[in-house]
Amino acid sequence: MTAPVRGDPTIVKVALGTRSYDIVIGRGLLASLGARIAALRPGAKAVIVTDDNVARYHLEPAEAALRHAGVASSRVSVPAGEASKSYRVFEQVCEAVVASRIERGDLAIALGGGVVGDLTGFVAAVVRRGVDYVQVPTTLLADVDSSVGGKTAIDSAHGKNLIGAFHQPILVLADTALLDTLPEREFRAGYAELVKYGLLGDADFFSWLESNWRDVFAGGPAREHAIAESCRAKAAIVARDERETGDRALLNLGHTFGHALEAACGFSDRLLHGEAISAGMALAFEFSARRQGLLPMAEAQRAIRHLAEVGLPTRIKDIPGPLPAVDQLMDLIAQDKKVKRGMLTFILVRGIGSAFIEAGVDAREVRVFLSEKLAER
Ligand SMILES: NC(=O)c1ccc[n+]([C@@H]2O[C@H](COP(=O)([O-])OP(=O)(O)OC[C@H]3O[C@@H](n4cnc5c(N)ncnc54)[C@H](O)[C@@H]3O)[C@@H](O)[C@H]2O)c1
Ligand SMILES: [Zn+2]
Repeated sequence: MTAPVRGDPTIVKVALGTRSYDIVIGRGLLASLGARIAALRPGAKAVIVTDDNVARYHLEPAEAALRHAGVASSRVSVPAGEASKSYRVFEQVCEAVVASRIERGDLAIALGGGVVGDLTGFVAAVVRRGVDYVQVPTTLLADVDSSVGGKTAIDSAHGKNLIGAFHQPILVLADTALLDTLPEREFRAGYAELVKYGLLGDADFFSWLESNWRDVFAGGPAREHAIAESCRAKAAIVARDERETGDRALLNLGHTFGHALEAACGFSDRLLHGEAISAGMALAFEFSARRQGLLPMAEAQRAIRHLAEVGLPTRIKDIPGPLPAVDQLMDLIAQDKKVKRGMLTFILVRGIGSAFIEAGVDAREVRVFLSEKLAER
């Protein structure tokens, strides 16, 4: 696998019948935002939804791109962070969108990471019973995961992402240069979701990342290539299973352990989502190898080694601060995944690039494994 030289953007199609759309990936694409929107929806006006961090760097260039193409726009900015996926901020953004006279033929633009993308997508799903929206991801996580696939949501007091809708964007514009302003820790956390596509279904892509990850971080052509490969993988899964009745669950590799650790850290800065998923994937590989005998431990170690090499946490002891005891972690897992007759559904692996859904994982096995891991602290 070789990375393309810099030049034309890469286009990945998400094939969903009348709801199909393009993911356009390349460096410096933001300047083409207005022209692309004008071509898709002639005469439409737009409201840009963003957050206060992203606004500082990228809002004015986005507005200029719209203006140059004759697309009228307004803006609404929300505080940065997960707390903006709340009823209160949702209401504020809905009201701002309505006040800016966005009609059925107009559109919303999500300029930001997964928080802005999820919030804007949900607002777009419900304002005037649904308006179109465009994703302009500004984090690596949003490039490869949240901006693709049409899951939109805000959070409930009972848990994350519980209030939402499936609503596909009409375009994803992934300008890889927008990531240059992203804090390195956020970039690295997003990289965990990117590696996930190699680990779950594409051993060649994983090998390529082992050799080229430094250029992905540095922002060279490898960054575009890695994002495009990830989007292809996600688009293929979403096209097969838009509403997660089957295969789409493979995208949850590392997420059962990961969510439990994330929740144990109170969804705080102690452990970012991608960091939790890195540790979760490492645990899923080790669990598959050592407790399920599905692959040699050496192959699991290869997966874990790469995550560690880029600076991601792979062991429970990499997580700073106190963690609850095994029973509480098991409770957190059970909250996330229903336990049916003592059995959990897990994404396990038979090797790098071959994940599968296993509905019959014995919760006792998981408990024994987790207590061993906690004891290593
Ligand atoms: N819809 C889906 O399929 C899906 C999938 C995965 C995750 N998610 C959701 O995504 C969210 C996490 O997304 P995230 O990791 O992008 O977090 P985020 O949107 O909170 O962004 C992380 C931080 O980086 C800042 N930031 C964003 N872009 C920047 C830039 N270019 N320069 C400087 N700072 C920038 C943000 O202001 C924020 O402080 C979660 O709410 C999660 O539930 C959704
Ligand atoms: Zn994730």
